[in-house]
Amino acid sequence: MSRKQYCVANWKMNLTSTEGVNFILDLVSKDIMSASAKIILCPSFTGIIPAVEAAKDCRIEIGAQNVYFEPEGAFTGEVSTAMLKDAGCQWVILGHSERRHIFKEDDQTIARKIQRALRDDLKIILCIGETLEQREAGQTDALLKSQLKSAIENISVIPEDGFCIAYEPVWAIGTGKTATPDLAADAHRLIRDNLTDMGLPGETVSLLYGGSVKPENAKELIKTDGIDGFLIGGASLKSEAFCQIYEQFKS
Ligand code: 13P
Repeated sequence: MSRKQYCVANWKMNLTSTEGVNFILDLVSKDIMSASAKIILCPSFTGIIPAVEAAKDCRIEIGAQNVYFEPEGAFTGEVSTAMLKDAGCQWVILGHSERRHIFKEDDQTIARKIQRALRDDLKIILCIGETLEQREAGQTDALLKSQLKSAIENISVIPEDGFCIAYEPVWAIGTGKTATPDLAADAHRLIRDNLTDMGLPGETVSLLYGGSVKPENAKELIKTDGIDGFLIGGASLKSEAFCQIYEQFKS
C-alpha cells in the first residue's frame, strides 16, 4: 500500500527568521526536491511568514509548532488557526512531548486543538510517545493507545491528505538514543492496529518516526516497515544534515 512520505523539520525554539530563510534558500540551491517525500519545515511563529515567502516557488510546505483551540479572543500570547492560515502555513504540530511535559498540555487540550485544526483545514502532525519510565514499566502499549484514543476519539474522518502521526519516544528526543528499527516498527504496528480498531484508516495514515534521527541512522529507519518519514529536531537545524537525511528517501 503506498502512503505519502514526509521529511519534517521541527526547528523548535531555534533559528531566527533570517536563518530559516537562508536554510530554505540553501535547500532550493541544492535542488534536492526530487525524492518523493514531501518536505515540511516548522519554524517558530515569527519565522513563518518569511519562510512561506522563501518557499513559495518550490514544493516545501510550512508548518507551525503549536496553535490555540479557540478561534479568537482574549488569549494573550496565543495564535489562532486563522492567523496561521493567513500567514500561509499549511501544517501544525500538535501533542509534541515538549508541549505535554514542559508546558503541561494534557490530552484534553491536545484533543481540542486537533478538533480546531481539523475544522479550520490545517493539516496536522500529531505526536505521541512514551517516556523511559513508562517503557521500563511495560506501559508503552497502553500509553500509546490512550494518547491516540484521547486525541482522536471524537474524530470520525481523518483527512486523506493532511493527517500524520509521529511516534516520538520521549527518551529518544535530543538524547542521541534512537529507537531500533524493530522497536519503532512494533510501535508503528500498534498505532495502525489501534487506529483500525477505532474505525479509522490505520493502514493508510502516514506514520513518522522522531527521536535523534540523523544522517547516519536515517537510511535504516526509512526502510523499516511502517515508517513513512521523519520528524527531525536537532539534525534539521543544518541544511546539510537535513539534505543528507532527505536523500535517504530516494534509495
Ligand atoms: P531530535 O531529533 O533532536 O531528537 O528531536 C526530535 C523531535 O522532538 C522532533 O519533534
